Amino acid sequence: MLLEDKVALITGAGRGIGRALALAFAREGAAVAVNDINAASAEAVAREITEAGGRALAAPGSVADRAVVEPMIERTCEAFGRLDILINNAGIVRDRMVFNMEEEEWDAVIATHLRGAFLCTRFASRRMRQQGTGRIINVTSRSGLLGNVGQANYSAAKAGLVGFTLTVAQELNKYGITVNALAPRAETDMTATIPASVRARRDASWAGSSVRRRGTPEEVAPLALFLASDRAAHVNGQIISIGGDKLALWSPPREVAEAFVFGGWSLQNMLELFDSSVGFQLQSLAKKD
Ligand SMILES: NC(=O)c1ccc[n+]([C@@H]2O[C@H](COP(=O)([O-])OP(=O)(O)OC[C@H]3O[C@@H](n4cnc5c(N)ncnc54)[C@H](O)[C@@H]3O)[C@@H](O)[C@H]2O)c1
Repeated sequence: MLLEDKVALITGAGRGIGRALALAFAREGAAVAVNDINAASAEAVAREITEAGGRALAAPGSVADRAVVEPMIERTCEAFGRLDILINNAGIVRDRMVFNMEEEEWDAVIATHLRGAFLCTRFASRRMRQQGTGRIINVTSRSGLLGNVGQANYSAAKAGLVGFTLTVAQELNKYGITVNALAPRAETDMTATIPASVRARRDASWAGSSVRRRGTPEEVAPLALFLASDRAAHVNGQIISIGGDKLALWSPPREVAEAFVFGGWSLQNMLELFDSSVGFQLQSLAKKD
């Protein structure tokens, strides 16, 4: 088994992608701490694993709450003796156009994804650092990489997770810990909240593209399992998407055009030269598969 003797904490694992990962990780031999803000669903998934002969514990509570996260990681280490894998998967959406978005909707999304991933990583990485090994997977989204109408809060949080991944990957590399961002695509309760008209437009836009279907939560597991395993020690600071039939590696943002005025850019230079220099290569906002 790929993850024999490993211990994984998976957040938001009461349903959807997190649940599919928890079951797959347990099947590959990992002991799994099943976190979810919904205690009943965390307990149900932990029970499902133990009834199938695996090792699991329920770790209910919000990842955005330090009073939950710190003891949750201590309990996981006490119960299973170590912590090898953290998957920052817990997530919510509160979609609304930016001009209608309430501060609470902004704050809730940022807190769940960003503060949650930060807190879990902070406490987990202390343990992994002592062990000299670890795997952290931050679940991001195409919304954070490309933008998506109605998701200013969510795309800001998911883009934030990419920046977080790039930095923490550099910080923890010397301790034998890898940190990668995984952008999944799967039909779940979360995507079921997408209005039918938006889904229809999306499906139509896939015609002729390399994407044929969104895929299932179970189909996200092979990439997460690989990244979490000893086989992926060389994969660090990467952004990788998986959904349905397609696996893709993304580049982090890069300079695509440059122009120099020696001595610095004046406003006059900018007005005269912008369009004829970097302005030649303005980037499309269109989504690309
Ligand atoms: N489904 C997709 O196509 C897709 C695409 C891109 C990114 N994602 C990301 O994948 C992850 C899983 O999404 P999903 O589609 O399975 O959604 P989901 O809504 O089915 O599952 C999310 C889980 O997170 C839990 N959760 C929410 N807030 C929490 C908190 N504060 N603390 C702990 N648990 C919390 C929920 O109770 C739920 O069980 C999310 O981070 C989501 O943003 C999903």
